[in-house]
Amino acid sequence: MIKSLKALSKRVESIPHDPMLDFMDQVGKVDNLIDLGFGDPDFAVAKNTKEAFIKSINEDHSHYADGQGTFQLRKAAMDYYDQKYDCKIEDPNEILVTGGAAEAINLALLSIVDKNDGIMIIEPEYSQYSTSVALAGGQKIPVDTISNNFKLTPALVEKNYQTALDKGIKPVAIILNFPNNPTGKSYSLDELKELASIFEKLNLWVLSDEIYAEQSYRQKHHSLYPLIPDQTILITGLSKSHSMTGYRIGFAIAKGEVALAMRKIQDTFLTCLPTPIQDAAAFAVKYDPDAGKRTRKEYFKRIKLVVDKLNQLGFSAEMPDGAFYVWAKVPKRFIGKSFEFCIDLAQKARVQIFPGAIFSSTASDYVRISCAQSEKILSRALVSIENYLKQGS
Ligand SMILES: Cc1ncc(COP(=O)(O)O)c(C=O)c1O
Repeated sequence: MIKSLKALSKRVESIPHDPMLDFMDQVGKVDNLIDLGFGDPDFAVAKNTKEAFIKSINEDHSHYADGQGTFQLRKAAMDYYDQKYDCKIEDPNEILVTGGAAEAINLALLSIVDKNDGIMIIEPEYSQYSTSVALAGGQKIPVDTISNNFKLTPALVEKNYQTALDKGIKPVAIILNFPNNPTGKSYSLDELKELASIFEKLNLWVLSDEIYAEQSYRQKHHSLYPLIPDQTILITGLSKSHSMTGYRIGFAIAKGEVALAMRKIQDTFLTCLPTPIQDAAAFAVKYDPDAGKRTRKEYFKRIKLVVDKLNQLGFSAEMPDGAFYVWAKVPKRFIGKSFEFCIDLAQKARVQIFPGAIFSSTASDYVRISCAQSEKILSRALVSIENYLKQGS
């Protein structure tokens, strides 16, 4: 008998095709590929954090935890973000423990987006944003920052807001990410205040993704959260600050009704995050708050190595304000063709870097190089890139 199952949901169909998968498909299988694509820090988790994890397991912390996150972790996270970035979190209940920042983004969007609501996404973007907006049923409103050297301004917000309205799309939220993946741009307190004013004026929810706050090189990181606390959902976590990507600890921080809404959805998804991992995370933020400071110095050295060399090789790259990526314009002969360049580079030089097109349709002159690997690996990759370019490929 031929079964006639219902087709998959419209929701799934609406999820955009991931250009990263397209890229990886086209690269195919390459032996001994040096991967400077992904942003997974190579640093080990601190020894005492790992011990806290093991201790928790041995003490049989094997039961459900509070769905909001253990109080111990939420209190430690509140103190950590207040001390580090003056977030002015007033109550541990503002913090929801999530499965990485990735889940926090989904919970935030699912809590505020109704079908066809417009969500402004700053391009170039971290590609999960488009996927999550589609999953929540919203419509993406791209805000291209290339004309302003990849920085968002109040004028750009207003212009794109109006364009969306003219097309019949009502913008309800904006996703801001700083220090930015992929461009490395960040914002001073004064710049943030100006952005906060326009977000307030336009009544926009703001998902402020500050996951790279600890990787700020030029200036101290300032958070948007204390500037407009009633309309900001702060997205953060320990993946980058404590190099704990595989532990999957993130935070969605918000006040009032939206905090309760995210909790409600979290309950249906997960019930709670694993208890021993939360214990390890609580230890990490409370007793190792400077983990990010240790790795920051290392990232800075790596980034400088890559930026200097790329500029010698005919790329055009600036030192980023933050995060751990180098965003570079390709040498003249690859202008407009960074996708093809990156595929060829991976196949012939065995170095994977990501083409700008993964992050924005207007960024085909750019590439992103992740400095999540050691200086030794980066140096080897740079030699391979140099040889590839010399061979005139
Ligand atoms: C800008 C940005 N936000 C969120 C995430 C997701 O972080 P997590 O691993 O905590 O889910 C990443 C991961 O690379 C990222 O670059």
